[in-house]
Amino acid sequence: MKAIIPVAGVGSRLRPHTYTLPKVLLNVAGKPIIGHIIDKIIEEGINEAIVIVGYLGDMIEEYLTKNYDIKFTFIEQEERLGLGHAIYMTKSHLDSEPVFIILGDTVFEVDLSGVFKREHSALGVKEVEDPRRFGVAEVHDGFITKLVEKPENPQSNLAVVGLYYIKSPQLLLSCLEHNITHNIRTKGEFQLTDALQMMIDNGEKFSTFPVEGWYDCGKPETLLYTNEKLLKSKSRYKEIFGCVINPPVFIAEDAEIENSIIGPFATIGSKAVVKDSMIQRSIIGERAKVSAMLLKESIVGNNARIEGNFRRINLGDSSEVDFR
Ligand code: G1P
Repeated sequence: MKAIIPVAGVGSRLRPHTYTLPKVLLNVAGKPIIGHIIDKIIEEGINEAIVIVGYLGDMIEEYLTKNYDIKFTFIEQEERLGLGHAIYMTKSHLDSEPVFIILGDTVFEVDLSGVFKREHSALGVKEVEDPRRFGVAEVHDGFITKLVEKPENPQSNLAVVGLYYIKSPQLLLSCLEHNITHNIRTKGEFQLTDALQMMIDNGEKFSTFPVEGWYDCGKPETLLYTNEKLLKSKSRYKEIFGCVINPPVFIAEDAEIENSIIGPFATIGSKAVVKDSMIQRSIIGERAKVSAMLLKESIVGNNARIEGNFRRINLGDSSEVDFR
């Protein structure tokens, strides 16, 4: 089975990091977001992926071909016309074999093996408090009856998480093509959700599977939260003389740490240099230099440098100083 991974987005909410790196190459728990996704699909036995690139796509292509052995096909989406349009661009590469679409900017911890044995197509879903910013599924008797993209008045709280097992890719393509040729858009874009609804109208059955581990990486706070969640199972470090490590953490083997307290929930990238610092709940990029800093809930980009200073004070008895 082929995986389809759309990763064309600009990642504007993660600027300034995404000025120089595409979002999916941002490091979380020791590897780029897309690295976690590729590891997952390989674990599920998939060895071929069609990757739809756009913004800084060359960097994504270079990272994937350098680090993974599976077969990749890269397709460039020049115009950002929506997720449905991105998927339609894979047309000449699909036959009648089922495909698995996995959105490239989200990390999942979910068991998919049973899903790929199903008789029907299946979408990953999760109950959320506010479904209005997602595709929303209404389910009756185990099958989806309605799918709406970002409804103002959602009729269910089941969000579509971005994992789509499609048994009839040719039907999907013809529904996408119909919407594109008739210029049928929702919120200005050609939506995958609309084409899936059309498939349902054409008799395709969609079951659902629950996805508890669904980690968004779209904003600095969610990237840091995902870093925390993943570190719980992917903690990796060696004791370092003169330093205190509070796991879980990920410390690249070639990072240089001196006289520092690292963790909990810190990721320190390859060749980063950290001295005289305390770093918690943060991501420090590759070759970054951090010195004499107390960092919490911070993201320091690759090659960035941040240096602080220890204070000198001569404080009398019963005095109070608050540096908050
Ligand atoms: C896309 C899909 C939406 C889905 C969401 C999951 O929206 O269109 O149906 O619920 O991903 O993250 P986006 O987040 O790209 O706006």
